[in-house]
Amino acid sequence: MEVQSIKELLVSVPNGQVVIVKGWVRTFRSNRFIALNDGSTINNIQCVVDFETLGEDLLKQIATGAALEIQGSLVESQGRGQKVEIQVDDLIVHGKADPETYPIQPKKHSMEFLREQAHLRIRTNTFSAVMRVRSALAFAIHDYFRKNGFYYFHAPIVTGSDAEGAGEMFRVSTLNPKTPPLTQEGEIDYKQDFFGKETNLTVSGQLEAEAYAMALGKVYTFGPAFRAENSNTSRHLAEFWMIEPEMAFYDLQDNMDLAEDFIKSIIAYILQNCKDDLTFLDKRLQDEEKVKPMAQRSEMGLLERLNFVVENSFIRITYTEAIKILQNSKPNKKKKFQYVIDEWGADLQSEHERYLVEKHFKCPVILFDYPAKIKAFYMRLNEDGKTVRAMDILFPGIGEIVGGSQREERLDVLQNKMKELGVEEEELWWYLDLRRFGSAVHSGFGLGFERMVQFSTGMGNIRDVIPFPRTPQNAEF
Ligand code: 4AD
Ligand code: MG
Repeated sequence: MEVQSIKELLVSVPNGQVVIVKGWVRTFRSNRFIALNDGSTINNIQCVVDFETLGEDLLKQIATGAALEIQGSLVESQGRGQKVEIQVDDLIVHGKADPETYPIQPKKHSMEFLREQAHLRIRTNTFSAVMRVRSALAFAIHDYFRKNGFYYFHAPIVTGSDAEGAGEMFRVSTLNPKTPPLTQEGEIDYKQDFFGKETNLTVSGQLEAEAYAMALGKVYTFGPAFRAENSNTSRHLAEFWMIEPEMAFYDLQDNMDLAEDFIKSIIAYILQNCKDDLTFLDKRLQDEEKVKPMAQRSEMGLLERLNFVVENSFIRITYTEAIKILQNSKPNKKKKFQYVIDEWGADLQSEHERYLVEKHFKCPVILFDYPAKIKAFYMRLNEDGKTVRAMDILFPGIGEIVGGSQREERLDVLQNKMKELGVEEEELWWYLDLRRFGSAVHSGFGLGFERMVQFSTGMGNIRDVIPFPRTPQNAEF
């Protein structure tokens, strides 16, 4: 007989048909009612067992966390709270879970505690809901690009170049760290390393994606990125996933249009396909907000926020306009910002981004035309000679969720810029070739996947939307 998912059974018409389910005990009460979950849905199925017939031996093995196989008949539920239940005829215990030692008991656990139990936290309602939404978002992303004529492209994980020029990379080496070979100058001799040069884990697949866009037209990457920035914040991971579309013949305007349409479409997808999980997460967020002081509570619930993003146009303003707004803002005048904005050219911190989005516009914002000085070398220089065609998308509760730009397609301008910033031409000879042969206007952006999942689930900490987070001083599991 075929095993059915609990998700299917909960919407089946109950007429006493025999069914088999396999899953884990969420709760067990009155020595009779097992709430079983198999991961197919946030909802449990109630299984009613008569242990007098099945045996007291079995009874002793039933506890939260145990893995069971259950056969019985699907009937209309006698009790409240569910439409159907299983009257159990046969029960197999695949694996017990000792209530004395099993960490995930049916009570409220702190997020900090659950991070230490990342291998088991997925058995809670919150984490299973988050990870199902994460999976649905990943699907929606591939689906969107496929429908819009993009090719999925795999950028290398090990690279020799620092795409973002920020120098925050993890080295990849097979040299013996105790006795590395040295050059005559006493430097480590990477010529003798595995790849014959210094290599690191990629911080972004963009540069390679540009090469592919200049032949396939529209491509995207969806892969891991690694950054050794020592940021212990609720929005930074050392290993995160990024979606990077790159499009030939797209200018900055086209790029912004695509990014907005893309984000709206994937949110619409989860609103349509993850209703139970999002409803649960919405309620969870409400409960969390209740214990916060009034001033810190967000004005919208999770579902409301998601619908708002789908239904409203993002605000688009230049960096220069944003600086004016910030300079004239109350927190700036009263020096409430940790970093007070005193002149054009200042890099925006997350407090500024969140002020613009949450207090000033109360809407997602796309900032564009940033000062060249605070952005990466590859962004296209504007006619004013001091700003570049960069765009960041800022989201409530998150700050920057997307970073992108139109790319510098002019060989001489790019070479000058690289010289200025000390980016070595020998390393990026191939990137310059793209400007030598058949160069064209092109653009792209990077969406931080975990920040997107954070926004979509209302989770406060980025460590709680990736299965096994990697952060400074932490690579457990
Ligand atoms: O703004 P970033 O650094 O842009 C790039 O890497 C470009 N190469 C993208 C492109 O144009 N193809 O990163 C893009 C996004 C950020 O907006 C943020 O959402 C996310 O990646 N991100 C991080 N997410 C989690 N942890 C970190 N340490 C992150 N750093 C960036
Ligand atoms: Mg950025």
